[in-house]
Amino acid sequence: MTRMARIALPSLAGGPAEMLHSGIREVANEALRRPGTIRLDVGQPDFPTPQHVKDAGKRAIDENKTFYTHTQGLLSLREKLVDKLARVNGITTSVEAIACGPGGVGAIAATFAAVLEPGDEVLLPDPGWPNYRMMLPWLGARAVDYPCPPSAGFQPDLDALERLFTPRTKVLVVNSPNNPTGAVYPASTIATMIDLAQRHNVWLLSDECYDQIVLDGTWTSPANLAPDDPRIATAFTFSKTYSMTGWRLGYVTGSVELIDTVTKVLESNSSCVSTITQVAAEAALVGPQDCVGEMVAAYRRRRDLVVGILRDAELLIAEPAGAFYIMADVSPAGLPAREFAFTFLRERGVSVAPGTAFGQVARDAVRISLASSDADLQEGVGRLAEFVHRGT
Ligand SMILES: Cc1ncc(COP(=O)(O)O)c(C=O)c1O
Repeated sequence: MTRMARIALPSLAGGPAEMLHSGIREVANEALRRPGTIRLDVGQPDFPTPQHVKDAGKRAIDENKTFYTHTQGLLSLREKLVDKLARVNGITTSVEAIACGPGGVGAIAATFAAVLEPGDEVLLPDPGWPNYRMMLPWLGARAVDYPCPPSAGFQPDLDALERLFTPRTKVLVVNSPNNPTGAVYPASTIATMIDLAQRHNVWLLSDECYDQIVLDGTWTSPANLAPDDPRIATAFTFSKTYSMTGWRLGYVTGSVELIDTVTKVLESNSSCVSTITQVAAEAALVGPQDCVGEMVAAYRRRRDLVVGILRDAELLIAEPAGAFYIMADVSPAGLPAREFAFTFLRERGVSVAPGTAFGQVARDAVRISLASSDADLQEGVGRLAEFVHRGT
């Protein structure tokens, strides 16, 4: 032990080693140390995977569907995905133009790896899902944040976005419905973002992992608005729609040329997604869809509950129209969001994700997950309202 301690380690890769751990995770870790905490920080559905999907997974094991598949995924799964993309997303594609990866995160990371080179810049929404930022140091690429400010209901500031393009910009990431804000961008915003990507000739990566969790109105997919533009790639997941976070299956669709390169990345680092998961996913796609509607109805009901509490406490920033999150203004507390989250957790036993985990723009806000029970939301958000105003 002491001898080992004297060995100087070979150096770690600068980018990943210097990366910060997720700002959501550090609050979650503290919550885990405190039994009885009301968990409003969690980013995954609180429902079990639907029974018919679980049964299909069990059958896959018994029927020995346990071997490698095509790197892009089972042909039978991709055929069903072609149907789903047409039916749900209005995207016309083919089995060659789809690659499955280990979760939406794996599909997105493989797409970045397929297009980014050292020094390239990637335009990311702020606030935005922290993992985008964490994927870039491996590739020597740099995040450039475009603001989606609270004052605009977390919609992108398109003028600011336009000013951020440089000759090194390579990818524009669009995430609607958005994590952490629940914002859904109108078709006109999506059209402007496509226009910007076209004028600057950059890839547009649309993360539609919450495509089927729309609480109000409709949403627009860039690939649906500009079906012939090969610069657009779109990523999806089974995690949220079918409550399959632990099964690890996502997919990306784009031009055949792009997907071929994405496939080479996936070949190198994952070979294929678990066959059992792929078979279960087929059951999710062809089986009854009421489970999806039931989960969305629960998120909508909880959204309305939390909107009511926050509005009464004058802490509501914007009503989310999609995904299962809502941001709450905590500025009256006079504490930076991270400090607020830890103090609130220690003093009132409720965990929320600090806005600073998602960038700089939401530094006076915290994210509340609607993937928590109605009772926990009622009690936890009630405590939040009271805690924010305690000194005022
Ligand atoms: C915006 C966004 N994209 C992608 C993902 C990827 O999820 P998964 O890797 O479970 O498919 C998540 C998960 O939280 C997310 O919030």
